[in-house]
Amino acid sequence: MEKREELYSGKAKSVFKTDDADLLILEFRDDTSAFDGKKKEQLDRKGKVNNIFNAFIMEKLKEAGIPTHFEKRLNDREALVKCMKMLPVECVVRNISAGSLCKRLGVEEGQTLNPPTYELFLKNDAQGDPMINEALAITFGWATEDQLKEMKRLTYEVNGVLQRLFADAGLLLVDYKLEFGDFHGQITLGDEFSPDGCRLWDAKTREKLDKDRFRQGLGGVVEAYEEVGRRLGIQFD
Ligand code: C5P
Repeated sequence: MEKREELYSGKAKSVFKTDDADLLILEFRDDTSAFDGKKKEQLDRKGKVNNIFNAFIMEKLKEAGIPTHFEKRLNDREALVKCMKMLPVECVVRNISAGSLCKRLGVEEGQTLNPPTYELFLKNDAQGDPMINEALAITFGWATEDQLKEMKRLTYEVNGVLQRLFADAGLLLVDYKLEFGDFHGQITLGDEFSPDGCRLWDAKTREKLDKDRFRQGLGGVVEAYEEVGRRLGIQFD
């Protein structure tokens, strides 16, 4: 398998073609951004840590029967994934109130959300990833009704698997964002799962161990990601 030209470069990852039309290479970079790219920094080792973290989680999800684009980790910074038609919709599940939910609704951070909530956002940098709903997604053709139904089912199924996994490591899965694509007609989990795209708190102290450390200037960002990994039994070296 041969690496070919760059297809796309996002805020933290780059995507490359390969000589196989069904496969792409994802490169995890050290670039870190927040607030629609207004805050940007290079964090040493972050690309490697997220690549290894993501491989671990994607394998767990695969074992649990979730269809994912993940094929294998190639090296420190690269993973081989299926080439899918990505849907421009971000699916967010929240178990505990935090982030934009608190800002939008004026609710206090840290409340247990029962049942967990489910939100959709349009993946559109120019519009600042606005919140949407299923009717809007269908009307504008961002996803079909069947695709949305499957994305919701899978996003909640991931919650069951990962809440348990993180709880066993003394962590609370506060919320997370997933993206999906169509791979030969099957809705399949894409993108990455790392502390860049979810919130994880220490179960006892509620210390933040995710990208909020970067957003809020708390420092020790990559160290926190490594701490989460260590608790899950991930080896980064
Ligand atoms: O900002 P908000 O509270 O809506 O984020 C909910 C969850 O989705 C958080 O875990 C955040 O890291 C993740 N997210 C993301 N990429 C975005 C928006 C949110 O990973 N573009």
